[in-house]
Amino acid sequence: MKRVIILFALTFVCFAGICQQTKVYTIAANQVKAKVSPYMYGIFFEDINMAADGGVYAELVKNRSFEFNTALTGWKEQQKNGGAGKVTVVNRADDRPENPHVITVDVTSPAGYFGLSNEGFRGMGIKKGETYNFTVMARKPSKNSTAIQVELHSAKGLVIGKAQLAPVSTNWQKYHVQFVATATDSKASLFVWLKGKGSVDLDMISLFPAHTWKNRPAGLRADLVQKLADLKPGFLRFPGGCIVEGRDLANRYQWKKSIGDIDKRENIINRWNTEFAHRPTPDYYQTFGLGFMEYFLTAEDIGASPLPILNCGMACQFNTGQLVALDKLDPYVQDALDLIEFANGGLNTKWGKLRADLGHPKPFNLKMMGVGNEQWGEQYIDRWKVFTKAIKDKYPYIQIISSVGPYASGKEFDLLNTTFRGLNADILDEHYYNSPKWFLDHANRYDNYDRKGPKIFAGEYAAQSKTTGSPDNKNTLECALAEAAFMTGLERNADVVVMASYAPLFAHVDAWQWTPDLIWFDNLRSYGTPNYYVQQLYSLNKGTDVIPLLDGDKAVSGQDGSYATACLDKSKKELIIKFVNSTDKSQSVEFNISGINISGRATMISLGNTDKTIMNSLDKPMAISPITSTMVVNGKAVKLSVAPNTFKVIKLKTL
Ligand code: AHR
Repeated sequence: MKRVIILFALTFVCFAGICQQTKVYTIAANQVKAKVSPYMYGIFFEDINMAADGGVYAELVKNRSFEFNTALTGWKEQQKNGGAGKVTVVNRADDRPENPHVITVDVTSPAGYFGLSNEGFRGMGIKKGETYNFTVMARKPSKNSTAIQVELHSAKGLVIGKAQLAPVSTNWQKYHVQFVATATDSKASLFVWLKGKGSVDLDMISLFPAHTWKNRPAGLRADLVQKLADLKPGFLRFPGGCIVEGRDLANRYQWKKSIGDIDKRENIINRWNTEFAHRPTPDYYQTFGLGFMEYFLTAEDIGASPLPILNCGMACQFNTGQLVALDKLDPYVQDALDLIEFANGGLNTKWGKLRADLGHPKPFNLKMMGVGNEQWGEQYIDRWKVFTKAIKDKYPYIQIISSVGPYASGKEFDLLNTTFRGLNADILDEHYYNSPKWFLDHANRYDNYDRKGPKIFAGEYAAQSKTTGSPDNKNTLECALAEAAFMTGLERNADVVVMASYAPLFAHVDAWQWTPDLIWFDNLRSYGTPNYYVQQLYSLNKGTDVIPLLDGDKAVSGQDGSYATACLDKSKKELIIKFVNSTDKSQSVEFNISGINISGRATMISLGNTDKTIMNSLDKPMAISPITSTMVVNGKAVKLSVAPNTFKVIKLKTL
């Protein structure tokens, strides 16, 4: 026997004498609360966890130009069938300061083979039937018949691909050969054999799959970029993160050194190489093969607005905190101005012409830029003022992203928040790496923010299952649901929060420094975490207009394990309700819709599980992933029971 008792905004659904409290919400679908920003929801990219080198940048050879501090890191001398010789590292810094090291391989035996093997980034991911491009810069100090044989070896030592080439010139030249792999292996290695007595100089020894994102030569890993494209992101923030700042200023990211000929991009140590004593990564460097041109192109490819973040004359304040004196800031400011010209300038400008020469005459339509990454203190404010004045004087249309420090509250946050509001800053970049409970408790964070002040960019956030920085943090469903709950507050406050991005983005399962991360990968495979699917569900269902969702006569702000928000997608003619049940009990809910007519069938997308500790993995990439179903709707009330630990997106066609 079923009966319904209405009590304000609560209803009790009873079955066989057991009553379950129903949360009743009202949705006023004919009232627009706020327009959804076109930048929602975006991507935060940083070369951390081998995200670029060893990750999305598809180069398979580690230390291809011998620039690591120990020049032969990743390489091993090899000989077979009586081959003999020696490898010498030569420093030509006087001629080529940006690419000083090359090797000379002297083959001393006419018999057999001598050469080197490269271990790749925790191995090389090779696929059977795929074509690979081997390239090398080579020259022969004097004429000889020494030839190169390239081999791919499986982890078990079997040859799974090979090719030959014969450098001839006594001048540096680039040589190229293509071959097809005969087997799949995620831990393969490359052997570069030399045969025949004589000596050869080598540099930029490189191996790429021919199949990359958009099949660009020496491009990006297609499966990983596809995962980004599948998010349909509003913006792409690059290149970080602390990597913008560097441990010291010498180690900062300099965009001008990241464009143009690949062998002229100066390699530096990756600042995450030594950051965590518990996760040392001594073989982590930046080749800048993924540089600013590639970042802009990728943003364009995936329909995201580019968001470069530039060093503002401050090294990472968690490290050296080195500062550039205010009267020496000009080159840094000039880098920012030149970058805008590079992205948007006409072909008659120096930097716009360079963009065209690099293959992109059309502007990149840059609209915003970050001044500093995660800076704080008076010294940041001083430098921010200099940058902001210079940028706004020349390019008043550029929106400036300003840091309010690494934490969601506290004295650093308060100083910057108050100061930048006083200075009419455009967009404030807030960061929070906190517990799942913090995210649940702060779903109402923006409900009372000043509606007339700067807009908010939730620039880096992720729920931490243990503590911030702990290597034991996991990408659990519990963390993902806490973020989904918090994001109801981002959507509800669309008039204030205009951008948001989970961080960090990528992590190599064998080479990470920081966890949790949105997407994990090895050399062949990748998977999205539950957190990834939360981001995707928000992004694909962001709508165009947020509408009021009320509990009784009060706007919902999220509590007691129930979080909800609603929007319209006017172009797709949809009403979209998002609901999070973060408790371990099912929750009965009813949404009463007024102001529009809806069709009698709803599409329901669910992300949930009774076990909130569940995670995805390379072997079970979809263990927790969205499941779509449909449901009949009677009249204008959507009634459903939401399972424990579940994020639901309910979509209704409007009539
Ligand atoms: O996302 C990892 C790091 O966290 C970023 O590099 C930095 O901005 C923040 O402290």
